Amino acid sequence: MSTQQQEPETQEAPQDPEMKGAESPVDEREKEGGMVDQTSVDDADLEGETVHIKVFRYDPEVEGKQEPRFDDFHVPFEKGMTVLDAVMYARDNFDSSLTFRHSCRQAVCGSDAFFVNGKQRLGCKTQIADLEQPVRIEPLPHQEVVKDLVVDMDHFYDQMHAVEPYFQNEDTPDPTDLEEQRQSRENREKIKMSTRCIWCGACMSSCNIAAGDNQYLGPAAINKAYRFAMDDREPEDVKEHRLRILEQEHGVWRCQTQFSCTEVCPKDIPLTEHIQELKREAVKKNLKFW
Ligand code: SF4
Ligand code: FES
Repeated sequence: MSTQQQEPETQEAPQDPEMKGAESPVDEREKEGGMVDQTSVDDADLEGETVHIKVFRYDPEVEGKQEPRFDDFHVPFEKGMTVLDAVMYARDNFDSSLTFRHSCRQAVCGSDAFFVNGKQRLGCKTQIADLEQPVRIEPLPHQEVVKDLVVDMDHFYDQMHAVEPYFQNEDTPDPTDLEEQRQSRENREKIKMSTRCIWCGACMSSCNIAAGDNQYLGPAAINKAYRFAMDDREPEDVKEHRLRILEQEHGVWRCQTQFSCTEVCPKDIPLTEHIQELKREAVKKNLKFW
């Protein structure tokens, strides 16, 4: 569904009477002296204040909630508060039907990627104090919305699985020998960044090409293929097989090096660089005189 194409109406969510009507620190500063660069506000400036978040709401299964809208919440600020902390507070204290995914709360599980103030970010890794208010929190764009901030990740997972994201080498040591299949330090260093992916989907959501081509493998899947194609322990014929998957019509050649995936990746993986390197590998494979 295209819930994010329209500008939904805003509703004031049920609030603690003391919270309701409370002005955010930015509102007050704007009154005192024009626009404030909220990115320069540090934790200490917000202590004892509330932060204003606007959260996207949509529930196709409940009558009266099928129209997308934004709910406003005023959440008491605490030092170190993240976007995830703020939506959890809103859910636990104001509206228990507010729905979103989360688990580890330390940028490991990849389940809480949201669209925050117009950018894909991990809720648990994004400090509220670094954001301009009101903080607008939406589900990842270009994904089907299931409910509120939850999107359907099936297509993303399908693309990840399409690149066969597992180590392939038939010539593995006999386990009874207790022999390790060692990797050189240099080779480990080469693939190090690509192994950091937490499958959050932020890169795919930010990619214009993926938005227009539903079959495009996407930056995360290509990065996963890079992790194995560059691993020296896989034999040459497996590497060629991987490159054949990647050079298909909806593979690496779709990338237009816009860097949007690299900009939003919460694990700082140089995705665009990896895609370009795989393009060079594909050319080398096809030009035998290289
Ligand atoms: S490559 Fe980065 S942005 Fe993309 S799924 Fe992995 S961690 Fe998330
Ligand atoms: S809750 Fe696990 S990555 Fe944010």
